[in-house]
Amino acid sequence: MAINWFPGHMHKARKEIAQVMPKVDLLIEVVDARIPYSSANPLVDEWRRDKPMLKILNKIDLADTSVTQNWIDYFQRDSDVRALTLDARNAQQCRELLNRGRKLVTAPRSSGKPITAMILGIPNVGKSTLINGMAGRIIAKTGNVPAVTKKQQRIPLAQDFVLLDTPGFLWPKLWPDGCGYRLAVTGAIKDAVIDYDDIAYFAADFLRQHYPDALIARYRLDAIPDDTMSLIEAIAARRGCIGRGGLIRLSQVSELLIREYRQGKLGRLSLETPRLIEAELSVAEREKAEKDAAKQARIALRQQNKKKTKRR
Ligand code: G4P
Repeated sequence: MAINWFPGHMHKARKEIAQVMPKVDLLIEVVDARIPYSSANPLVDEWRRDKPMLKILNKIDLADTSVTQNWIDYFQRDSDVRALTLDARNAQQCRELLNRGRKLVTAPRSSGKPITAMILGIPNVGKSTLINGMAGRIIAKTGNVPAVTKKQQRIPLAQDFVLLDTPGFLWPKLWPDGCGYRLAVTGAIKDAVIDYDDIAYFAADFLRQHYPDALIARYRLDAIPDDTMSLIEAIAARRGCIGRGGLIRLSQVSELLIREYRQGKLGRLSLETPRLIEAELSVAEREKAEKDAAKQARIALRQQNKKKTKRR
């Protein structure tokens, strides 16, 4: 999917985070539990090196419990990472993360020096909601519209715990292609740049294959259609998204499906598993290697032709 979306402040954020990283004892990365891979920032591991990290799978109320467990096991293969699920709207749960963080930081610090934790998260994962919950007061603005984060903030959470909110704008993973689609389906990419018909088709196709029962129950279907367009037509028929001459209103049904998915009305449905991501990565890497090899061959041919022309 071609996403016409340019994350501003990207280089500035990258530089500023790298600069403060030596002072950081703990990283807290917030991801969307429905898409824990796609909603992660690709540079976090590079920044982190061997620092401990709390990986927060937020919006757990919207994600599939068994798939989430697979992700927790996947992330915790790294012994410095503690992966936890969260509904950030529950302030008590957010507050408890302080203790989880304290337990993870084992490196010696000079006495009386508080733990410095840096919190990272792409827009709309619920980072502001989590910060407010941890602080027990409104510090960060919340809202479902992805926006540019303010300046870097230093937030004292307890006598022994300081939180650094990341500056600028963190960008998500847009490779392989499926990541962009999944980010769009969950609402992490600005709606203004989204082609609803395209992402609804992606969502319908995925849900048809992985969660047919949820679709049958929500849209009172007799059975799950064999192809995705027939599924979209069936939902349109059930929800009255039909125009003159019996033609389906594609934009209307597309927006309805995406909105209801985001609101959790279809149930707790995750959009990616570790296995699916590994499969996508291996296909994408093979395609990239083939493209690179074809490019090298073209360059070599051009050089040969140049030499031949010179000799003549
Ligand atoms: P951000 O700072 O990462 O950009 O995200 P923010 O906290 O603003 O949260 C984005 C939206 O996600 C908000 O909804 C927020 O309430 C919601 N949210 C955060 N955590 C959770 C969670 O664990 N589960 C669910 N279901 N939603 C969560 P909103 O409707 O846009 O804003 P508001 O009306 O709640 O302020």
